[in-house]
Amino acid sequence: MELMEAIRTRRSIRRFSDRPVEEEKLQALLEAVRQSPSWANMQCWRFVVVKDRQTREKISELSYVESFFAPRGYKSNPARKGLAEAPVVIVACADPGKSGMIGGQSYYLTDMGIAGQTLMLGARGLGLGTVFVGVFDEEKLRPLLGIPDDIRVVGIFPLGYPLEEKEGGPPRKPLTEIVTFEKW
Ligand SMILES: Cc1cc2nc3c(=O)[nH]c(=O)nc-3n(C[C@H](O)[C@H](O)[C@H](O)COP(=O)(O)O)c2cc1C
Repeated sequence: MELMEAIRTRRSIRRFSDRPVEEEKLQALLEAVRQSPSWANMQCWRFVVVKDRQTREKISELSYVESFFAPRGYKSNPARKGLAEAPVVIVACADPGKSGMIGGQSYYLTDMGIAGQTLMLGARGLGLGTVFVGVFDEEKLRPLLGIPDDIRVVGIFPLGYPLEEKEGGPPRKPLTEIVTFEKW
């Protein structure tokens, strides 16, 4: 798929078929993610690839954070089901100490956002679907996956063949609202 087409048609996919993800496709995707740019090329990321069904189900449970969703009127994380049914779940972690720091601001989230976009567009290009899941119980996720205390879990990506083909996504603000030329 052509790059601009992949960018235009990528959508958050939250329902997956049980068709397995071919090992070559998974490797191609991880290889693409590895090529992402990062602060001073420090590559602060670590990715935990989970296929075990029971672990995926536990990750799915941990994506419902009541204190976040209940006040917003959500019964669940919209991605919860997909995290259990996708054959692969990629847990994207970062070592904040291995990214840039300027004026007290760490750039690890920037690095991880870029890697996440590579993962999402790469998946689209390979005919796979995924969604950036940013709400989860990090404290319970760490022991489940043996992630050290000083490592942050930044995103979780269910990966598989989409059960849904989305024509259009949630609306975007018009360019006139988000872009100015020469000055603010
Ligand atoms: C940082 C980040 C965190 C997100 N967290 C969640 C999440 O926890 N659950 C979920 O269902 N979708 C999550 N999303 C997906 C967004 O809701 C989605 O990207 C947005 O509504 C636009 O839809 P589209 O991706 O289909 O274009 C997240 C997206 C980003 C970038």
